[in-house]
Amino acid sequence: MRKLCREAWVEVNLDAIKQNLRTFRQHIPRKSKIMAVVKANAYGHGLVGVSRHALRNGASELGVASLEEAIILRKAGIRAPILVLGFTALNCVKEAVAWNVQLSAFQVSWLKEAHRIVKKMNSSNKLSIHINVDTGLGRLGVRTEEELLAIVQVLTSSKFLAWKGIFTHFSTSDEPDTTLLHIQHDLFIRFLRTLRDKGYKLPTVHMSNTAAAIAFPEFSADMIRLGIGLYGLYPSGYIRELDIVQLTPALTLKARFSFVKTMLTEPLTISYGGTYVARLGEVIATVPIGYADGYSRALSNRGSILHRGQRVPIAGRVTMDQLMVSLGESEGNQGDEVVLYGRQNNAEISVEEVAEMLGTINYEVVATLSHRLPRVFLKNGKVVEVSQMIQMKRPKIEIKNKEKVLKVKAKKQVKKRKRYYSK
Ligand SMILES: Cc1ncc(COP(=O)(O)O)c(C=O)c1O
Repeated sequence: MRKLCREAWVEVNLDAIKQNLRTFRQHIPRKSKIMAVVKANAYGHGLVGVSRHALRNGASELGVASLEEAIILRKAGIRAPILVLGFTALNCVKEAVAWNVQLSAFQVSWLKEAHRIVKKMNSSNKLSIHINVDTGLGRLGVRTEEELLAIVQVLTSSKFLAWKGIFTHFSTSDEPDTTLLHIQHDLFIRFLRTLRDKGYKLPTVHMSNTAAAIAFPEFSADMIRLGIGLYGLYPSGYIRELDIVQLTPALTLKARFSFVKTMLTEPLTISYGGTYVARLGEVIATVPIGYADGYSRALSNRGSILHRGQRVPIAGRVTMDQLMVSLGESEGNQGDEVVLYGRQNNAEISVEEVAEMLGTINYEVVATLSHRLPRVFLKNGKVVEVSQMIQMKRPKIEIKNKEKVLKVKAKKQVKKRKRYYSK
């Protein structure tokens, strides 16, 4: 592994991602493609590393939240189709064309303006569009057949726009009550039928997220948009309990103790606010991870981590960059590896357990892991790539007695040359 100065990182098991993709490939109809949803830094797993790997192992397209994320992928040399699932402001249309990134659209006025912008660009590339249909999520999307027909009319009559897809997004596909899911599905199918009846040839049709792909593979249409399942996590406890597919979590959050001490002197308080008071002789270890890394402050005095395969509790408040744990009377050394999310020996702290403690969902726990943590990608247990905020390259250093050093170097070279010619 490359050198880490602050020893806290996210390990991503690429074999697990490959296995999860294979599982979905076998579960959904053969004709349905897989879009890997890699928004939010691939749900915290590392945007470029995950995207490359997913495209090599069964995904054919990528879904992101913003044009910025798409451009990061293009700059990394990724050429597969990329769709921005969210809204894109009109002032970024030129960039979308230039980087060949597909945008979602759902308003006639936006499309007409986009058409004008692309026309003026004089580019041989068109702007590729997927229509977002709102069938009940109430977030973004076309809501009526009239609006939809008007959009399709603009799209199909423009020389500068290319209609590539039409999609909707489910709001309750991870829940046991499927009433709304069926309402959304049926409404979407009705919209598609209207378009077909008007003589339009439909482009790529997609609607299913992970939960729908698991529970209703028959809804997979031309493509599924696979997010949380790609990373080996279940969209909900309910979907996990259906026991339809077996997924393998890919992420482990790790760190090394930066300091270990035995509390031998007063005061025995630990961290801000002095909310934890150690016993005399208690062993306290410091971990270089804090809430600015996405490890929630709400885990203060509540969460635990794994050290030598045992749970050890967080002592006191989680601070911005560091937290402390109590090892009790056990031993520990500076540099010991610990696991905050994931497995160590036979013990596990699942992302779901942490989510439940925080009153949130596994999605949020992983997606909020910050860019500050390097992502270390593993295959067969070996490090194959590290993605870091910066590469640790040393700048040129000022050499003391430069003249002298150069003279010695020159002398050595002359000697070397003499040796060579005397052979
Ligand atoms: C439009 C859209 N499609 C697909 C997904 C993937 O969902 P999931 O992670 O549940 O598979 C998301 C994620 O929120 C999304 O917003």
